[in-house]
Amino acid sequence: MLATLPLASFDPHLGLAVLRTPNSLYALRVGPDGSPRHLHWGAPLDTAVLAQLPDAVSPAASSFEADAAADELAPQTGPRFGPAGLQVRFADGTRGAQWRFTGHTVDKGELRLCLTDRRYPLRAELCYRVRPGSDVVERWVELTHTSPADGDAGPITIDRLDSASWTAPALADYRLSHLVGGWNSEFQLHRDRLPVAETVLTSRRGVTSHQASPWLAIDDGTATEEQGAVWSTALAWSGSWRITVHRDAVGRTTWTGGFGHEGLHWTLRPGQSLRTPVFAGLHTPDGFGAASRAWHSYVRDHVLPEPGREMPVVYNSWEATGFDVSHAGQVRLARIASRLGAELFVLDDGWFGERHNDRAGLGDWTPRHQAFPDGLRPLADEVHQLGMSFGLWVEPEMVNRDSELYRSHPDWVLHSPTRDATELRNQLVLNFARPDVETWARQTLDRVVRDYRVSWLKWDANRAFTEAGWDGHHDPDRLWIDHTRAVYRIMDRLRADHPGLRIEACAGGGGRVDLGILARTDQAWTSDNTDPVDRIGIQYGFSQLHPARTMAAWVTDSPNTATGRSTPLRFRFHVAMAGALGLGGDLTAWSDEELREATELVAQYKRIRPLVQHGRQHRLEGTGGVMAVHYAAEDGGEHAVLAWRPTTRFGHQPAPLRLPALDTSGCYLDVDHDRRHSGAALVHRGIDLRLPPGDYASRLIRLRRVAP
Ligand code: GLA
Repeated sequence: MLATLPLASFDPHLGLAVLRTPNSLYALRVGPDGSPRHLHWGAPLDTAVLAQLPDAVSPAASSFEADAAADELAPQTGPRFGPAGLQVRFADGTRGAQWRFTGHTVDKGELRLCLTDRRYPLRAELCYRVRPGSDVVERWVELTHTSPADGDAGPITIDRLDSASWTAPALADYRLSHLVGGWNSEFQLHRDRLPVAETVLTSRRGVTSHQASPWLAIDDGTATEEQGAVWSTALAWSGSWRITVHRDAVGRTTWTGGFGHEGLHWTLRPGQSLRTPVFAGLHTPDGFGAASRAWHSYVRDHVLPEPGREMPVVYNSWEATGFDVSHAGQVRLARIASRLGAELFVLDDGWFGERHNDRAGLGDWTPRHQAFPDGLRPLADEVHQLGMSFGLWVEPEMVNRDSELYRSHPDWVLHSPTRDATELRNQLVLNFARPDVETWARQTLDRVVRDYRVSWLKWDANRAFTEAGWDGHHDPDRLWIDHTRAVYRIMDRLRADHPGLRIEACAGGGGRVDLGILARTDQAWTSDNTDPVDRIGIQYGFSQLHPARTMAAWVTDSPNTATGRSTPLRFRFHVAMAGALGLGGDLTAWSDEELREATELVAQYKRIRPLVQHGRQHRLEGTGGVMAVHYAAEDGGEHAVLAWRPTTRFGHQPAPLRLPALDTSGCYLDVDHDRRHSGAALVHRGIDLRLPPGDYASRLIRLRRVAP
């Protein structure tokens, strides 16, 4: 029997560190200068082979070019001219670290390499972790000022502290896949040839951002959904971030990333440490689809707080009532929603303070008397009696100037005293890095959850940071880290104190979706854009990293409020059923026929929900303008395919849709039409979609594996 190889190991004689995952291997070697250098990231190799691998030196070595292997975290000393993952300044003005390797620890899947500066009181631990059953390698750094806290050593200034630097192997070419967008158009997948240059992906906004996501994939330009090696990484951080991808002229591609954007500085005082977020990496040999599925499994098994729970069908009243909320109006909607099969009723913005519109009330988290004269308990009770749980929208990090909170604590907002504080959506950002603000927010939310019997919070954040000063603080840029950490702490604490509470991440749609926020939330509001045609593209990009159960997707009214486009109800449902289904329209205006159809479609969703939320996802592209997603149960028994054709063109009938994830030796029953298909035919020829004629055509196909 083969001995099981350890997940993580380190050989001090060879200086060789190895992380093994089921289908890949990550290896590095501590160089003669004490710096860990990248060795291999890809297919598994024997340790004996690894030991003999030469360092990956640059082919252009000369007195003008570094000849060393790429750093695991470049420390800004020696002949290193690329983007440095670690940039520090000591009290005497000296820059950069020069390491001595001072030890390692291995604990199951976790490896730590300890580096100590040769001259200054600085220690870095480069940390690596692999989890059983996952191909993802997690990396982070812990940096410590090692002088005694009561000593008189000067502070160390950190200009950059990345979580990790990654290196792709030598490839014939390099292509970068990444997600970009804006409000209402998040998660647009771009695949561009990587220029021979430094390419910066970043958010300077204090939140992850709509504009860029901290995920990227590198391939040689030939990978497809089903084939080709892909190296992808994701940063688990919900504040500002930066990833710099560097392709040099002789064919080396590295990227380094972490929290904070350029220009921020943090101070380490004697005895203090700073730990970075995790920057996770994944090598997959079988295309972008396999990469996404490996990420989805990782997020489900190792990131989400309660992956086993099913996401309920939500009804959210925002698009129906906007700020015009009242007890009677919400009850009317709740009654219809429960008849349609909704399991959770969420009252959105407008329920608190003097929140008649977006100019007032943010920060005052007590029910608006005019709208809810007897408070929120009667509504919560009514919702519970209807068999649904009750949820509330909150935006705890924000404040309107026109609010009791701002009048009492004008100093709580991010601001620079000598600059105008920019208002966006008439609001300012509270400085959650301040312990008093954090305590206020935690206690306020705790009260809201307890008093109104809330089991779901939609936690929103509708603007970016500007003039982000912290008057009087010795290390003001710390707020860019500590604000986010306070948000995390409050969410974690609320969950711990209220078992069963679920949190939906939101930031004006999908402005704060990343593996950091998903570690303490259950799903994310993907986009304020609920137009089903636009959503197909948004959901395609979202699914590159995030599993479908984290992707909140509502069916709303037609014409759509964002795009003005009219689409059939069934098409809207079929697109939203690809994620965590919700309803968001003005149900009082839906016809009896629409309500009947919606009830049937919600019931259909519940039948495929286990597959969508826990199965394996395969993105499919058909012909004739067809896009589709196939969800397969882990054991291959049950399958659901959602196919959409937004527009039709004369003479371009879609060909049968191939389902490559099925087993060619299997036999499958089309459950709703009692038709049998051979697996080989479905894989190689495809299934006839029989779409209705015209634009916005869609279909749900359910297949079950049966005995031949
Ligand atoms: C943000 C959210 C919306 C809604 C509004 C309320 O834009 O993304 O879903 O909650 O705020 O103001």
